[in-house]
Amino acid sequence: MPVIAVIGAQWGDEGKGKIVDLLAEKADVVVRFSGGDNAGHTVLNPLGEFKLHLVPSGIFSPRAVALIGNGVVVNPKVLIEEMDKLAASKVDISRLLVSDRAHLIMPYHLLLDRLEEKARGGKAIGTTGKGIGPAFADKVARCGIRAGDLLDREYFWERLSNVAEQKNNIITRVFGETPLSVDDIYSQYCRYAERLAPHIRDILPVLSAAMGRDDVILLEGAQGTMLDPDFGTYPYTTSSSPTGGGGCLGSGLGATCIKSILGVYKAYCTRVGGGPLPTELHDETGKMIRELAHEYGTTTGRARRCGWFDAVAARFSARINGFTGVAITRLDVFDTFPEMKICVGYRLDGQTIDYFPSSVAALEKCQPVYEEFPGWQSPTVDIRQYDRLPAAARRYLERIEGLIGSPIRLVSVGKERDQTIIKKPVY
Ligand code: GDP
Ligand code: IMO
Ligand code: MG
Repeated sequence: MPVIAVIGAQWGDEGKGKIVDLLAEKADVVVRFSGGDNAGHTVLNPLGEFKLHLVPSGIFSPRAVALIGNGVVVNPKVLIEEMDKLAASKVDISRLLVSDRAHLIMPYHLLLDRLEEKARGGKAIGTTGKGIGPAFADKVARCGIRAGDLLDREYFWERLSNVAEQKNNIITRVFGETPLSVDDIYSQYCRYAERLAPHIRDILPVLSAAMGRDDVILLEGAQGTMLDPDFGTYPYTTSSSPTGGGGCLGSGLGATCIKSILGVYKAYCTRVGGGPLPTELHDETGKMIRELAHEYGTTTGRARRCGWFDAVAARFSARINGFTGVAITRLDVFDTFPEMKICVGYRLDGQTIDYFPSSVAALEKCQPVYEEFPGWQSPTVDIRQYDRLPAAARRYLERIEGLIGSPIRLVSVGKERDQTIIKKPVY
């Protein structure tokens, strides 16, 4: 019965990997449903520290089946490298399955991602350069190649030779670059196919059987709601939906199957790449958050932009997803801070607003309206019970909870799996 979605509620990197790893201890199935290897999910557990890009963070559970859903775009090279790394750390990867409907990232997607970004000049999105946008564009344009296509060499060649010719036309005629060798791509992907074939299949029967047994199924979100192409800060977004709704589309589970949707927020905001971040701090405080919390991208190593908690964006994200509860991570980052701020509204064209504008042009003009909170200036990293948190920390969290309008279930006070306070059960 219980399908639980774990969703990034801000601009990504909220700590979804840590929360999924924790919840996966009791899960039977864990499904990644969106994005690709633009995601970087950090997991620190008794087996070691891992940075996962494609493999679901539930792979560490001794019994869970780990599924890569149809909504993920898979770079087979990256997946094989990740599987090898996990196997070298004695992680059992035999329970990893890839949907035959998942689209593949091809060499021309990587090249086009780079060329398109360059062509955007000063308006570059700051993509991860992993070919994500071009691969999702091909999916919708019906010229994508799917994981299942790799299992039929003849059909794969037919698709590839047709699509790659179109891509080479764009690469040479629009961008003036050297065309890619279709034969090389074919033989390279046939090698990947040999390695991945035992893992590629229709995952819907696996999910149906799990539903029939009343298994616990976790949907592992990637990216964050504010990067959603419909509801995020378009065009500074990613190319698939990181929301609870995206969880249905990207896995094949019906909307009525999902019983809880846990939104993961950090106690402040970060963003990597371009686009508005209304509470961004360009001062010493921003630097201090970045250094204390080591806010550098898991996938690209880029410095993350840091700012105070934005409750306007947070409430918007809670509504888009219909969160049944939230997890607040990285509370410990504020352990030494004398004071914190929460953005409770924006000043826009002489007025105070409490909604998240749809246009980037408006967002860029928004000035945050802050409430100030005294710090607790004592360590929280060893606290495991909500009532043991300093009163100032509880006041800070409870103001966030009130502004978001969804109950806090988990509070994370460190990277380790057990550095978590369970305030209310997630399911
Ligand atoms: P994800 O993409 O949402 O899985 O998040 P990332 O792994 O990209 O970034 C989150 C970072 O925060 C990782 O380095 C985690 O180890 C770390 N982290 C997660 N929860 C906490 C926490 O409560 N406190 C601290 N200090 N670090 C945390
Ligand atoms: P996780 O799952 C943070 C950002 C990129 C860029 C924009 C578009 O670790 O939270 P893309 O390569 O997707 O076309 O880039 O989206 N982005 C992320 N930022 N965390 C992520 O994933 C991200 N995945 C994409 O930085 O601004
Ligand atoms: Mg990340």
